[in-house]
Amino acid sequence: KILYISIIQCNIMLSYENKIILAPMVRVGTLPMRLLALRYGADIVYTEELIDWKFLRSRRRYNDILNTVDYVDQTDGTIIFRTCNEEKDKVVLQLGTSDTARALKVAKFVQNDVAGIDINMGCPKEFSIKGGMGVALLMQTEKATSILKTLVANVTIPVTCKIRIFETAEQTLKVVNSLVSSGIKAIAIHGRTKDERPQHTVHTDIIKYVAERISIPVIANGGSKEIENHNDINKFKQLTGCSSVMIARAAEWNCSIFRKEGLLPIDDVIKDYLRLAVEYDNSQSNTKYCVQNILRDLQETPRGKQFLESQTLDQIW
Ligand code: FNR
Repeated sequence: KILYISIIQCNIMLSYENKIILAPMVRVGTLPMRLLALRYGADIVYTEELIDWKFLRSRRRYNDILNTVDYVDQTDGTIIFRTCNEEKDKVVLQLGTSDTARALKVAKFVQNDVAGIDINMGCPKEFSIKGGMGVALLMQTEKATSILKTLVANVTIPVTCKIRIFETAEQTLKVVNSLVSSGIKAIAIHGRTKDERPQHTVHTDIIKYVAERISIPVIANGGSKEIENHNDINKFKQLTGCSSVMIARAAEWNCSIFRKEGLLPIDDVIKDYLRLAVEYDNSQSNTKYCVQNILRDLQETPRGKQFLESQTLDQIW
């Protein structure tokens, strides 16, 4: 019986090879967008970064009206994380942390509801840096490795991290080798340094250098400027020598980038998105934010302006 159970567990353990992945994106990667990405063809979806201490303030609750699992902030009743069965085997929770004990507590708290745990080691924003999280954690490689090691040893689901590159390929590889020694199952590499911004060219050569030299899957990230259709994803794979690609902005703008059959017009994407937002009772402010990010310049058109004036999910719809 034990053998049987462990075979089943092995079968459903998430694999990071040959995958097209929705990147973690604050405010964008909430449940409706993740489900939309999966329905369009993404293989794995990351949550937005969730901060450990905020998560630890929450209580887990099964929502039998929506059939979702909700982690509800006990101080103000907001939903920190909502998930459902449809994404259970494909959703990776990204954690913002700088502390082993807190990270482990969260990981154990959620491990039965998600398919993997990822530690954010790439965020260059002031909020993260001040808290010793994101790229600040990456700079403390020993501590970062130790957090990963503790998680790997104590949780039942795969552990990964998402990093930025360093100035040189050799420096990047040195840090990656340390992180990999923790036993993580994959590593997502955003091909920009901590000081580079989205408009800077992505260093596919450094991602490739690392991917050729380590034994776990490297998930290539940072290519959205050049990813305008599904074929471009394959080009990015070739340039980076990786079998898996993680997409952020291209999916934020038009989530149907995951469709093998080709992009849909944004009107269709907005409709598909709104259906899911209504079905899963997504907050009005988050729904509006995501639609605004799809509309971009079109917000200046009369229709766009009308949309901006909407206050409720009903009016948005
Ligand atoms: C991000 N990014 C990001 N990264 C991360 O590790 N955790 C996060 O929560 C976020 N949040 C976030 C929000 C938004 C709106 C954007 C546009 C980006 C960075 C993102 O995952 C990715 O690394 C970069 O955008 C580069 O990939 P693309 O955009 O070239 O595919």
